[in-house]
Amino acid sequence: MAGQVITVAQQKGGSGKTTLAVHMALGFRARGQSVALVDLDPQGSLGRWFMMRLEDDPSLCEAMDFATSSAWGISYECRKLVASHDIVIVDTPPKADSDLRPALRVADLVLVPVASSHVDLWATEGVLDLAERENKAALLVLNRARPGTRLGAEVAEAARGLGAELADTVLANRVGYAESMGRGRGVTEGPKGPGRDEVIALTAEVADRLAKV
Ligand SMILES: Nc1ncnc2c1ncn2[C@@H]1O[C@H](COP(=O)(O)OP(=O)(O)O)[C@@H](O)[C@H]1O
Ligand SMILES: [Mg+2]
Repeated sequence: MAGQVITVAQQKGGSGKTTLAVHMALGFRARGQSVALVDLDPQGSLGRWFMMRLEDDPSLCEAMDFATSSAWGISYECRKLVASHDIVIVDTPPKADSDLRPALRVADLVLVPVASSHVDLWATEGVLDLAERENKAALLVLNRARPGTRLGAEVAEAARGLGAELADTVLANRVGYAESMGRGRGVTEGPKGPGRDEVIALTAEVADRLAKV
């Protein structure tokens, strides 16, 4: 097996990197693929989520793995994990500097969450520049979107102007994301609802994009 690596990166903290990493993992699991999560962020929230899940019910972590890594160790870690998993998802700290480069270098696709604000948008160019320098495809994902607001429309419009690919699927601002993750779960595991639909749709888009790299 030779899996593919998705790196989730965005200089701005709180933009939804960890939320996106978790939900892409659940989305690919729901498609029957094995997934490994790698946490590069010393804050360790991805690890807490995984451990909570594992302690709650180990069967929830079937075909799912978790590792931490330092920035410099990521290439070794990913080489190991892609040998035994379909998808490796790397969650990164809020940075867009030379520390981030190894995590971009290992990526088949870079996912960049942009929370619905101009501040988030301003922080995006740094990551896009770095990804381009590493010759990596990047896909922007609008997160915490508030459909029907002027700000939401402005940010979506400005994101299109950045010259990067923008996912058609938008993750809306939903309390379910925070709530489910606080229990070691995700929105796809709760009752049926729009959150689950958007995660399924985004995973399908990301899978399509990965098939093209
Ligand atoms: N789509 C969303 N709807 C509601 N809350 C969200 C959404 N995405 C992220 N959040 C919340 O925003 C905060 C920051 O998200 P997080 O994924 O930890 O960002 P990062 O990893 O980029 O710092 C968390 O409290 C998280 O629950
Ligand atoms: Mg995070």
